[in-house]
Amino acid sequence: MTSAHSRYHDVYARWKTNPVGFWEEAAREIDWIRPADKIFDPDAGTYGRWFVGAQCNTCYNAVDRHVATRGDQAAIIYDSPITGTKQTLTYAELQDEVATLAAVLQDMGVRKGDRVVLYMPMIPQASIGMLACARIGAIHSVVFGGFAPKELATRIDDAKPKVILSASCGIEGSRVIPYKPLLDEAITLSSSKPDSCLVFQRPQLDCSLVDGRDRDWKAEVSRARAEGRKAECVAVAATDPLYVLYTSGTTGKPKGVVRDNGGHMVALKWTMKNFFGVDPGEVFWAASDVGWVVGHSYIVYGPLLHGATAILYEGKPVGTPDAGAYWRVIAEHGVVTLFTAPTAFRAIKKEDPDAKLLEGHDLSHFRALFLAGERADPDTIRWAETILKVPVIDHWWQTETGWPVAGNPLGLGALPVKHGSPTVPMPGYILEVLDEGGKPVPPNTMGAIVIKLPLPPGCLPTLWHADERFRESYLSVYPGYYNTSDAGYLDEDGYVWVMGRTDDIINVAGHRLSTGGMEEVLASHPAVAECAVIGIKDALKGEVPCGFVVLKSGVQTAPERVETELVSLVREKIGPVAAFKLAITVGRLPKTRSGKILRGTMKKIADGDSWSMPATIDDPIILSEIGDVLKQRGLPG
Ligand code: COA
Ligand code: AMP
Repeated sequence: MTSAHSRYHDVYARWKTNPVGFWEEAAREIDWIRPADKIFDPDAGTYGRWFVGAQCNTCYNAVDRHVATRGDQAAIIYDSPITGTKQTLTYAELQDEVATLAAVLQDMGVRKGDRVVLYMPMIPQASIGMLACARIGAIHSVVFGGFAPKELATRIDDAKPKVILSASCGIEGSRVIPYKPLLDEAITLSSSKPDSCLVFQRPQLDCSLVDGRDRDWKAEVSRARAEGRKAECVAVAATDPLYVLYTSGTTGKPKGVVRDNGGHMVALKWTMKNFFGVDPGEVFWAASDVGWVVGHSYIVYGPLLHGATAILYEGKPVGTPDAGAYWRVIAEHGVVTLFTAPTAFRAIKKEDPDAKLLEGHDLSHFRALFLAGERADPDTIRWAETILKVPVIDHWWQTETGWPVAGNPLGLGALPVKHGSPTVPMPGYILEVLDEGGKPVPPNTMGAIVIKLPLPPGCLPTLWHADERFRESYLSVYPGYYNTSDAGYLDEDGYVWVMGRTDDIINVAGHRLSTGGMEEVLASHPAVAECAVIGIKDALKGEVPCGFVVLKSGVQTAPERVETELVSLVREKIGPVAAFKLAITVGRLPKTRSGKILRGTMKKIADGDSWSMPATIDDPIILSEIGDVLKQRGLPG
């Protein structure tokens, strides 16, 4: 299948013939302090490094360089229906805010290479904080607000930040969530204490500050401004880390994905026009959170590197105040492109199936909807196409890659859409599907989706202070390839179909979570002998976790009580984001004769999918017991 209008095949072929030349050309869109000695050095790093020898500053490219030509243009539009606040920051204002905050950070002792953790709600100060770090060469590490103190503490211990940026509260729907007690607890739990914290007091909640450690954000910024202190952009190596973003791995210990400065800028800038089809000056909205990679790439860096206007939305697709919230934002701010997770559209569809709330909103300037973060189910895509009457584009990527691995490149001219497939690999990526032995499988055959090394600019060069874990996790399984841990197939037209994970990661409302991490929490309960957590189908969130636990013999507590305690424990240890609401006590867990828990078969039973009795099962009766228990709970079973 080809498209007469799309330049995709030519551009992909051009990249494949000369990858170094391709990225050298793309790099001309970035202002460098010193050009690269080598565009790609295959001998550096774990699989090679991009733009070796170059010096640059990401904040300069995202903010300062636009001030002369588009200083009065909106850089960030903050829209917060939950607080009734709207605020526009022009590029000139953003530069002033970022340079001033960067001076405050310097005053707090932050220097090039130091880490700064951000635990922030969706307010402009989150973007300003990230850019201020980039300005002075500090490495930011944003932790999503829905994570509990223990998860935050784990990340603090790994990143060892000099300073933490936070705010008095987040707001979830109608609830004000005090962040400061969570931060204080995390610091108590962590063994690596920050020197200081800078706390933004929101009007919705004032929090107390710890003497000698905490400083008031607004007061510090006002003081720096009154004294005329601003920080200049610091030159960093293109290969220096811009940020570390922790993501779920197969254990409770998250992986610190490292993003460098140079390759990241080149890749993101390329995607804005060529993939999303957005021009500088236009309004781009990624409805996600700065705590996720989508937020890093497309709420903060991508649009700003491109000179576009970024929307920062503090709200939900539904309930803030209703399922028309997205249409209101698109119409009011002239959004040309929206990027969100399919779950958001499932939520809107559930509340307003006929899209009545679209009426009265002028969406004539709206050009495309991009979906990622989880598999875009064909029903949701079709519904979105019908109501919006614009291209709905599924694209597939990961925290590790930082930008789309596969998608339908609107900017190059869209290819024909196949519902359920995120279309084709982007320049930079050669995709293959391998069997368990590492051999390529024929088209339309399921296997492990891998990317031929080297990875393109923007992808992770390694994990934070863990080269060996990086090699083991991603490079060692299929030598010469990066293992995506996604399973799927390539069809006869080269379209990729991403069907699920090959590890224990589940995707809950577009949030990536480790069932292994949840099992560690369940196993820590004194009444639990053994447990298994699986992701089961959910009409809204795609998947939700479900924990099966076997109690220790002699436990006196009622099973229902243990189940309730387990639900609270996961919320307390991992956070509300885990959406862990279902713990089920069972007599035994189904296992193979070698003792491996049959999670895959349990999932099929819980989802009501067809399944067959594994030949290696130890005791077949246990699976029917699991089915019975699930039926009692109203699940397919
Ligand atoms: N701070 C504190 N708590 C948070 C939080 C934050 N930043 N973000 C989420 N939570 C809490 C929620 O309040 C909820 O708590 P609850 O169990 O007490 O209700 C829990 O974490 C789960 O949150 P979420 O998964 O967002 O579920 P939801 O029911 O509140 O909303 C959707 C469901 C579909 C509307 C929502 O997930 C959504 O808008 N998704 C859009 C896409 C998206 O953000 N994708 C991210 C990757 S692109
Ligand atoms: P994260 O690192 O949080 O962005 O999660 C990445 C994972 O989400 C991928 O490895 C996939 O399993 C899943 N994912 C993201 N986008 C898609 C998509 N378009 N189709 C299918 N799965 C996706």
